[in-house]
Amino acid sequence: MKQINIAVIAGDGIGPEVMGEAVKLLQAVAEKDGRFAFTFTDFPWGCEYYTKTGRMMPEDGMETLKQFDAILLGAVGYPGVPDHISLRDLLLRIRHDFDQYINLRPVRLLRGAECPIKGVAPEDVNMTFIRENSEGEYSGQGAWLYPGTDREVVIQDGVFSRHGCERVIRYAFELARKEKKSLTSISKGNALNYSMVFWDQIFEEVGRDFPDVPTHKYLVDAASMFMVKDPKRFEIVVTSNLFGDILTDLGAAIAGGMGLAAGANLNPERTFPSMFEPIHGSAPDIAGQGIANPLASLWSASQLLDFFGYEDWGKKVIDAIEAVLVERKALTPDQGGTASTAECAEAVIEKLIQ
Ligand code: NAD
Ligand code: IPM
Ligand code: MN
Repeated sequence: MKQINIAVIAGDGIGPEVMGEAVKLLQAVAEKDGRFAFTFTDFPWGCEYYTKTGRMMPEDGMETLKQFDAILLGAVGYPGVPDHISLRDLLLRIRHDFDQYINLRPVRLLRGAECPIKGVAPEDVNMTFIRENSEGEYSGQGAWLYPGTDREVVIQDGVFSRHGCERVIRYAFELARKEKKSLTSISKGNALNYSMVFWDQIFEEVGRDFPDVPTHKYLVDAASMFMVKDPKRFEIVVTSNLFGDILTDLGAAIAGGMGLAAGANLNPERTFPSMFEPIHGSAPDIAGQGIANPLASLWSASQLLDFFGYEDWGKKVIDAIEAVLVERKALTPDQGGTASTAECAEAVIEKLIQ
């Protein structure tokens, strides 16, 4: 039997509440299937750990994580610890140091989920965002000069390497070819005269190897307008780190809310573990009440199943989520229901393994 060892970083706020449910789902799937088994090892890293130790993870944390086949992450960040420390030293560190350069985020309106745009049907919202996840605006490079003086200067560098842009754009073209879909590049060459002009040029260059893939290009401002006005024009989408961050929250909003949006941080070469997470944060406003929506977290578990080659189960998880949304009997308050996190997840698991 295949053994898959998973590191679980439940993190802060609603992170542990939703992550526990993803673990239960994966356990149930493995038991039912019988071809594979998971082990789960919990790491209590996050903001509480920081307040006790002054670090977001132990010094050898990355070495420890490297031994695992994959990572499940809940959410990181909580009032009391500056966000730029908590996120940079844990979530962004893992994405960067494990070269998880593909951030794959489905923006798909399931039946039963509410779309705030009138006249939009589920089949109109079915995009896959490929967000560059290792450099760009998130390089973390820059300088803070003469702090606190009247000559204070802050510089935040964007880093766009040929290697970094080519590999994410090529991945997106390959996915579009495999799924026989169009590929849209979203950039901003009219204002960002180095980084985005370069991005556009590389999109052209790589595209020459994929004459069979229909392509579109939008400036990010127009793209955000079209995502709302005419979402069906987007199928596979490739964009930079920051634009992908912003547009996938917009995507979450049009596909039923933050409680439904999942993302996989992939190292396609499998040199390092990949990481699966809901894209929402720790939601301090609802943490500790047992009412967080677990569906994004369960969706990220389906991405994990896909990644290990169990696409049949990955699809079944999405179908079970959709069935629970359509039935409307076990939804959390963000979806207009009265169920708890655990009740909602239980309903999905029940449908999945029945
Ligand atoms: P957030 O995603 O935590 O919350 C935004 C809104 O969406 C809140 O009203 C929240 O209640 C709601 N929401 C989010 N997830 C939900 C769920 N599963 N069920 C029901 N409602 C849900 O974003 P924020 O408030 O901007 O950030 C809070 C903290 O989380 C910050 O420290 C931020 O840096 C961090 N953050 C972490 C991640 C991550 O770990 N991947 C992602 C985003 C934000
Ligand atoms: C996300 C989050 C992170 C990001 C933050 C918490 C650093 O918003 O995963 O979308 O910007 O990538
Ligand atoms: Mn985000």
